[in-house]
Amino acid sequence: MQRHLITSAIPYINGIKHLGNLVGSQLPADLYARYQRARGNEVLFLCATDEHGTPAELAAAKAGKPVAEYCAEMHAVQAEIAEGFGLSFDHFGRSSSPQNHALTQHFAGRLADAGLIREVVEKQVYSNADGRFLPDRYIEGTCPNCGYDKARGDQCENCTKQLDPTDLIDPRSAVSGSTDLEVRDTKHLYLRQSALKDDLDAWIDSKSDWPILTTSIAKKWLHDGDGLQDRGITRDLDWGIPVRRGDADWPGMEGKVFYVWFDAPIEYIACADEWAQAQGGADWQRWWRTDKGAKDVRYTQFMGKDNVPFHTLSFPATILGSGEPWKMVDHLKSFNYLNYEGGQFSTSQGRGVFMDQALALLPADYWRWWLLSNCPETSDTEFTWELFQQGVNKDLADVLGNFVSRVTKFCRSKFGETVPEGCAFGPQENALIETLNSRMDQYCQLMDKMEVRKSAQELRAIWVAGNEYLQTAAPWATIKEDEAKAAMQIRLGLNLIALYAVLSAPFIPTASARMQDAMNVPDMDWPTDAGEALAKLSPGHAFSVPDNLFGKISDDDRSDWQERFSGIRT
Ligand code: 2FM
Ligand code: ZN
Repeated sequence: MQRHLITSAIPYINGIKHLGNLVGSQLPADLYARYQRARGNEVLFLCATDEHGTPAELAAAKAGKPVAEYCAEMHAVQAEIAEGFGLSFDHFGRSSSPQNHALTQHFAGRLADAGLIREVVEKQVYSNADGRFLPDRYIEGTCPNCGYDKARGDQCENCTKQLDPTDLIDPRSAVSGSTDLEVRDTKHLYLRQSALKDDLDAWIDSKSDWPILTTSIAKKWLHDGDGLQDRGITRDLDWGIPVRRGDADWPGMEGKVFYVWFDAPIEYIACADEWAQAQGGADWQRWWRTDKGAKDVRYTQFMGKDNVPFHTLSFPATILGSGEPWKMVDHLKSFNYLNYEGGQFSTSQGRGVFMDQALALLPADYWRWWLLSNCPETSDTEFTWELFQQGVNKDLADVLGNFVSRVTKFCRSKFGETVPEGCAFGPQENALIETLNSRMDQYCQLMDKMEVRKSAQELRAIWVAGNEYLQTAAPWATIKEDEAKAAMQIRLGLNLIALYAVLSAPFIPTASARMQDAMNVPDMDWPTDAGEALAKLSPGHAFSVPDNLFGKISDDDRSDWQERFSGIRT
């Protein structure tokens, strides 16, 4: 039995995520976790909400709530939606947990002890009226480039120019509107990533099987320009993990917190501790400490391409720099972007379809199948309502749903609701078994390698093979001349439904559970041989006819949704 630690990038707390976020990390991670569990392996699948930083503070202010209260509420909302999508996390934690506070402070202490942290005095804008420093997004003013009067301190949303707060004309506090601002000195901690450059470079070179997307981004940051830069890991904010050196105070750093991107990946580890506590004291270190059993763990991370630098450089720098035997990632699967109807999905602009809206339209499996079978693996891809309608109607309704419906209904009308006996398999059935064996083998190889789109293609081909068999065998014609042969064909069809239930479960868990229930097979191991799998349901075994597994998306629905989701979510 293998042991798989699987993490998905942890979504920001500030609002419900869109389908582009979902397909870039949580959904493929769930596919892999479900597959590994189905293969009989031990899996710990973790995700959490990313609760610190200015986005959380600003969203809470917008909602008129204290940040802690806002985060607790949004965590519950995100957890419920994740469940609605069938995301099978073993634990959905919170980066604001006490475990993450302690661990983040612990890492900072270890890094400081190793001489990998330096203190830097910087100049930052301070608001006298608000009694606080104003990080980039907290300052507004007029863009020197285009004259837009609500440009933020880090970027002008109108012309996209990257800015420094001091570039803004007539700067004011986004918190109070006050213009009583001054530039003051403030001390921050920098992680000396540059000192770890050679170690990181060698570590990335040892990952020959990583996707090009992953390694090319890491290498660019390591070598372009002046090479890997040291990174500020503290901020002048109220909300976050207080800067401490392990258990001790950090002189001069009072009132400051760690930067959100320092503590967020550490939550992958803290989340295991949260999980263990929720289990009533399981051993989480056997997943994370190589000196405590994690040597034989295979650790896979899933994320969108914008997250790659933090996962290939900053987080590994934290772990390597600590000098402690923490488990490092073995495989890092990254994704490109999913676009929406010719533009981008955007949380800040409310553009696209958000997870709660998607679930209100259709059950999760429709989205899971389309998103995974079209995921942006080798390039950015596009969600359009036409493509979505085509994919769902063809693959799920016409191929899989139709097969299940025809086989079960025909059996009920001619032989009743038990598996009929009939004669032995003939050449046509043996040919199908051969096809299935080679396709199943290919499917597993692709799933093992996390080739998501190709795996979906292979699964679709397995469904199509059954449909083609049914079409050629035509039990509705056979029965007129040879009842025993028609019974055998249907016995094979019913067994194929049970086989489909197991193979399809990582992609479409709800429909798979319905197929499995209808075929009345509570336990079915992952099939290794199609011949054996198609003999699983013996003659006389009772089954039931399920309701239609998938409905078709009509043209009216499609254009209605296209219209409804063409604007901006407010
Ligand atoms: O891009 C994002 O949504 C970030 N919240 C991902 C953080 S992943 C990790 F580092 F925790
Ligand atoms: Zn501008």
